Amino acid sequence: MRLTTLSTLTVLALLAAGCASRAPEPSATNAATAPRAIPESRIGLRTADVSEASPVRPIVPVRAQPGEAPLPVRPYPGSPPVIPHSVDGLLPITAKENACVGCHDPANAGDSEATPIPASHFEAGKLDNRRYLCIFCHVPQTKATPLVENTFKP
Ligand code: HEC
Ligand code: HEC
Repeated sequence: MRLTTLSTLTVLALLAAGCASRAPEPSATNAATAPRAIPESRIGLRTADVSEASPVRPIVPVRAQPGEAPLPVRPYPGSPPVIPHSVDGLLPITAKENACVGCHDPANAGDSEATPIPASHFEAGKLDNRRYLCIFCHVPQTKATPLVENTFKP
C-alpha cells in the first residue's frame, strides 16, 4: 500500500519535471516581431478613446414625402435604388402590414406614381418572400460624410 503511494508520487513528480523541462524558454523580446500596441483612440472609426463617450453627429433623414423628390441616381445598373422619400410612418414592415407594397405594387403604382415593383421581385405572379422586407436592400438616405472612402467598383 505504502509502496504504491510512493511510486505514484514518483511518477507524478517525474511527469511534472518532464513537463517543466519541455516548457518553452521565455524568448528575449524581439522588437521586430513583438506586436505593436494600437492606441485605444485608433481602434474604431470614431477618433476617441473606446471608454469615452464622444458626441454623436445626429442623422438627419430625408424629409421629402413620396412624389416630392427626384428619382435617385443609381450607382450602377442592377443596384437597388435608394429610397428617395421619407419612411416616417411606413415602418416597421410586419407580416400583416407592408406600406411599401401599398404604393409600389404594380397594380397601384399608376395611382401613386411610384415606380412599380419590378418583375424580378415576383415569383409565379406573387411577391417573392425574399423580397418582402424592402428595407433589406432599399435604404433611406441621409446627408452624411462617409467615415471611410468607398472604393467599390461595380
Ligand atoms: C405613398 C406612396 C408611397 C409609399 C407608401 C412608399 N413609396 Fe416609395 N416611392 C413613391 C413615389 C411616388 C416614388 C417616386 C419618387 C419620389 O419619391 O418622388 C417612390 C420612389 C421609391 C424608390 C425609388 C424608385 C426608383 O425608381 O428609383 C424606392 C426604392 C422606394 N420608393 C422604396 C420604398 C419603400 C422601401 C417603401 C416602404 C418603406 C416605400 N417606397 C413606400 C411612393 C411611395
Ligand atoms: C433582396 C434585395 C431586395 C429586396 C428585399 C427588395 N428589392 Fe427592390 N430592387 C432590388 C434590386 C437589386 C433592384 C434593381 C434591379 C431590379 O430591378 O431587379 C430593385 C429594384 C426595385 C425598384 C425599381 C424598379 C425599376 O423599374 O427600376 C423598385 C420600385 C423596388 N425595387 C421596390 C421594392 C419594394 C417595394 C420592395 C419590398 C416589397 C423591394 N423592392 C424589395 C433588390 C431588392
